[in-house]
Amino acid sequence: MSVTVRVPAKVNVQLAVGAARPDGYHGLANVFLAVSLHDEVTVTAADRLTVTCTGPGADQVPLDRTNLAARAAELLAARYGLEPDVHIHIAKDIPVAGGMAGGSADGAGALLACDALWGTGASREELLDICAELGSDVPFSLIGEAALGVGRGEQLTPLEVGGTFHWVFAMADGGLSTPAVFREFDRLAEGRDVPEPTASPELLAALRKGDTGALAQALANDLQPAALSLRPALADTLAAGTAAGALAALVSGSGPTTAFLAADAQSATRIAAALEASGTCRTTRTTTSPAPGATVLQGP
Ligand code: C5P
Repeated sequence: MSVTVRVPAKVNVQLAVGAARPDGYHGLANVFLAVSLHDEVTVTAADRLTVTCTGPGADQVPLDRTNLAARAAELLAARYGLEPDVHIHIAKDIPVAGGMAGGSADGAGALLACDALWGTGASREELLDICAELGSDVPFSLIGEAALGVGRGEQLTPLEVGGTFHWVFAMADGGLSTPAVFREFDRLAEGRDVPEPTASPELLAALRKGDTGALAQALANDLQPAALSLRPALADTLAAGTAAGALAALVSGSGPTTAFLAADAQSATRIAAALEASGTCRTTRTTTSPAPGATVLQGP
């Protein structure tokens, strides 16, 4: 018996970061937008918990119990007095350690898949609680579409989106560690006043109206200076996409993937070709948003 779940990647159209809290996390106003770039997680009843992974960057994905997908199976099983005896296969398409919540997607995907396989009957709230325990971005991977995340990013309010946005993503060689990028944020903020993070009304209005031009004006990522400090070459990628006609360019989350907002699908194709020709990235993908959250493709 198997269950396959499809889970989207995300881009943060606004990532406002506050000062480090006593627990080491940062208060956020995090506007998530799910994009049509997916991992697929398949769980199959087995003798014991195992994880396999295929796809780009699969060799960098941990296959032990530190994998968020394995931890999701363990947390759900523990809650319902079950053994987490499943084989989890991750078919990866989301860049690994790329700032697009690929690991979080696998956690949310495995959770939904195990829930369907075991028939636990867990409520949406229970699943979201487990997601929050797995990581700050995991609840959003479950719900998808668009949402404002506050707290450490896990307290979500769904947002209305009035249209389709066209994106190009430029994948970089290697990943960036999210904790390392937050540490660099703290280093750069030393001696400065870090304002309370708040969602931009202009940005929320642009999403609501589906207004690409207004969204381009409002895109903002407070982690971008930290990601650029750790990976200065990303500035060349951002410049190449802007020169090719992107309406806006920014680092996706903690990077090193960069995101380019395009006026339409044709423009996205042109920007992607120019980015690939520029030699400033490993590869590109064109995609659209919003996209649904974790979805069961094939049931038990
Ligand atoms: O919640 P998660 O385990 O995904 O976070 C990974 C790391 O990212 C944390 O250990 C922390 O270093 C950093 N982080 C943060 N503030 C947040 C979310 C994540 O500092 N709001």
